[in-house]
Amino acid sequence: MTSHDTPQALPQDADTDAYDRASLAARGVDESLTFARIAERHLERRSLLKGLALAGAAASVPATLTGFSGEAKAAPAALTFESLGETKADTVTVPPGYKSQVVIQWGDPLFPGMAPFDLNAQTPAEQARRFGFNNDMVALFPLPYGAQPKLGGRFSHPSYLMAVNHEYATGVGQFPDYPIPVSRDATLAPRTLPTRNHVETQMESVGVSVVEINMVNGAWVPNVNSAYNRRVTATTPMDITGPARGDTLMQTPADPTGVLAKGTFANCAGGLTPWGTYLTCEENWDGYFNNRSAVTDATLKTLHASWSSMNNAATPATSTDFTLFWEAYDSRFDLSKAEGVKEPFRFGWVVEIDPYTPGARPKKRTALGRFKHEAAQGVLNASNRLVVYTGDDERFQYAYKYVSNGRYNAANRAANDTLLDEGVLYVAKFSDNGTGTWLPLDFATLNLLSPGKFRNQADVLIRAREAAAVLGATPMDRPEDIEAPRDANWQGNGKVYMVMTNNSNRTTTGTNAPNAANPRASNISGHILEITEADNDMAATRFTWTIFLLAGNPSAAAGTNTSVVWNGVPTFQGPAFGAPDNIAFDSTGNLFIATDGTAPTTPTCNDQVLVTSTVGGFPRQVKRFLVGPAECEICGPLLSPDDTTFFCAVQHPGEDGAVVDRSATNSKLRRTSVWPTGSVPRPAVVAVRRTDGGRIGS
Ligand code: FEO
Ligand code: CA
Repeated sequence: MTSHDTPQALPQDADTDAYDRASLAARGVDESLTFARIAERHLERRSLLKGLALAGAAASVPATLTGFSGEAKAAPAALTFESLGETKADTVTVPPGYKSQVVIQWGDPLFPGMAPFDLNAQTPAEQARRFGFNNDMVALFPLPYGAQPKLGGRFSHPSYLMAVNHEYATGVGQFPDYPIPVSRDATLAPRTLPTRNHVETQMESVGVSVVEINMVNGAWVPNVNSAYNRRVTATTPMDITGPARGDTLMQTPADPTGVLAKGTFANCAGGLTPWGTYLTCEENWDGYFNNRSAVTDATLKTLHASWSSMNNAATPATSTDFTLFWEAYDSRFDLSKAEGVKEPFRFGWVVEIDPYTPGARPKKRTALGRFKHEAAQGVLNASNRLVVYTGDDERFQYAYKYVSNGRYNAANRAANDTLLDEGVLYVAKFSDNGTGTWLPLDFATLNLLSPGKFRNQADVLIRAREAAAVLGATPMDRPEDIEAPRDANWQGNGKVYMVMTNNSNRTTTGTNAPNAANPRASNISGHILEITEADNDMAATRFTWTIFLLAGNPSAAAGTNTSVVWNGVPTFQGPAFGAPDNIAFDSTGNLFIATDGTAPTTPTCNDQVLVTSTVGGFPRQVKRFLVGPAECEICGPLLSPDDTTFFCAVQHPGEDGAVVDRSATNSKLRRTSVWPTGSVPRPAVVAVRRTDGGRIGS
């Protein structure tokens, strides 16, 4: 089903308020709060209509910490660079007049006095002091705290803290002596179990790196002497906060009160807060657990059943690349053990890290729900409520947003600590007529809809996927990044961009058939949705939506699954691409799109970065700005505040390397990438600048 009606007008205020009343009444919310909120919404609307901020609200927010992406302007800067052709070159390819550099790569030291990285001498203690593996999201925090980089000009700010996610571990990609799975080569001798050193080093290779970078002679250089440099890994203690703190499902033998988690991993994308903290998302965390089939408690077994992994059911001899056997050396990853059976409930969260306070414990913010989080970008509405958009990156899962009860306090950083604990998590329902609703994951409402299914609000958040399904949320084509442009005061403009990366399992008919917001069956190329929140209020419970573009091949025939035509109109012109993943805005409203798995759409091009304007209609004019090395994906696209550096993370270059040395003791791969060192491929953060130092893109 691909029909789509013209978007209709939003319900009138009275209708929206009636919905609010019914929803709040169903939730048993105090009536005075109800009407206070309704009155506040009217005030916000009037203020917005007059083009005024609420008295003392936006005006009191200090200018940017990092709130530079997507400053709303009528005319995005013209994109005058020469669009790249397709290439399979094993390098970072950028347009004429641009140059790229590696800022930091896997294994680089983060502290003074360390030896150069030695692939053959890796230990957990060593890796815990070095840049991690498989870098993903990249974020910048100006130094010192409160510094205000100039927007949209020549380079002006010399120093940032850079926070980077390290998404996942692999065996053969990390260790020359790792036992190679037979899935790589069926003629190999049976694989043996990885060693304790392999596993424990991997645990220190995932998570997050924080590193100071400085501009030196036109290039970004890590500062190993910075007191801010830090690793957060799969073994770092972190507080569990919010409604699920202390819940019975969060309690383990090592943490009987359910308040202190050990580590974070599977950190994919994330976001920032207006108070200068980093939100990192736990995405494919279920793959690190094993032996679900041996769980004896029927309730727990059912609760674990919906996750796609947790039960590799493989012996070392039969396993694949992504069977890591962490449970062989740490019982908390073994669901058949008391130490492990509830450990999975302590993952799948958004974790807040304060990069400006290296000793501060990270916090798992359970109010944002538990699923396979991808992205958690903060933005403020006109009354300074914090809104965080986040999605669940799995086929037929959902798009969410969180709205804080309290308001951002620019004058008191510590006062914002409750904003990610006290608020409402909503899930998106897209109607075929171009409207949509944010449905609250609220225990009282859910208990009316499905009596007894959930124990309390903690249970709702731990089982957010089930709650979203009960509410009738719209199953999406793998929500990846969700970003709302914001100005220097962190105010959103009502627009939100949601990236659906692909869904080859979307069928033409039946339960998994297309819906209007996910219009293509066998959607191998993905698409991007544009949301407009009601009254341009980021905290609204209603929205309108439209297709921003269908990724694919502009030359493909209409009706095919890579066609970019929607409702009879080509959504874009320019180079073919597929699998949009993470996105970023420059300060004028141009949209940078990074791909992960473009190959089914563009088999003669490596993963890439595209740029288009957020302003204007179909067909959008798309240009290809960057192509990555062989077999990588491009993660973490980011513009510096002045638009003069484009950052991205090159993840898993050469991941499909073939086996050439079958000796049992020293298995070797024929490297299908040697980027960036000319030897074993290493994930790395890249910076791209114009040779004349000017604005990226024009
Ligand atoms: Fe780790 Fe959804 O990409
Ligand atoms: Ca991603």
